[in-house]
Amino acid sequence: MGKKWSRWLIVPLACAGFSISFGVYADNKFNLGKEKAKVCMTCHGVNGISSIQSYPNLRGQKMSYLITSLKSYQSRERTGGLAVLMQQQADALSDEDMSDIAYYYSQLGSEFK
Ligand code: HEC
Repeated sequence: MGKKWSRWLIVPLACAGFSISFGVYADNKFNLGKEKAKVCMTCHGVNGISSIQSYPNLRGQKMSYLITSLKSYQSRERTGGLAVLMQQQADALSDEDMSDIAYYYSQLGSEFK
């Protein structure tokens, strides 16, 4: 008898454990991204909204789009306009940096936190 209901206890406990650790992971990634994005703020604005017309906003942008953009600057596939500025920025980033920063800007959403 004991065996049967211990099974009902383990499932919810395992689920709770998973969602708690995922929450910590997401929070950690956001903070890492925020820290790494400090260098971007001079041009893209403190809140990801730039005050210069030719510098794009990053706030609320899709995570995948941010990553592919950064990779295409790094590989020099994206050129023209002011791309040369971003090529130098992208050179300094690892794949993990790009992922963390992109996560941060995508999670900022379009409303101010
Ligand atoms: C020296 C100023 C400067 C800094 C610092 C800078 N950027 Fe940029 N960024 C630009 C400019 C200018 C563009 C537009 C380039 C173009 O015309 O393609 C741009 C474009 C981008 C784009 C493409 C946006 C789009 O909508 O296509 C992304 C993504 C981006 N920057 C991310 C970053 C990240 C992440 C950092 C920090 C690691 C950073 N930038 C630091 C000036 C800067």
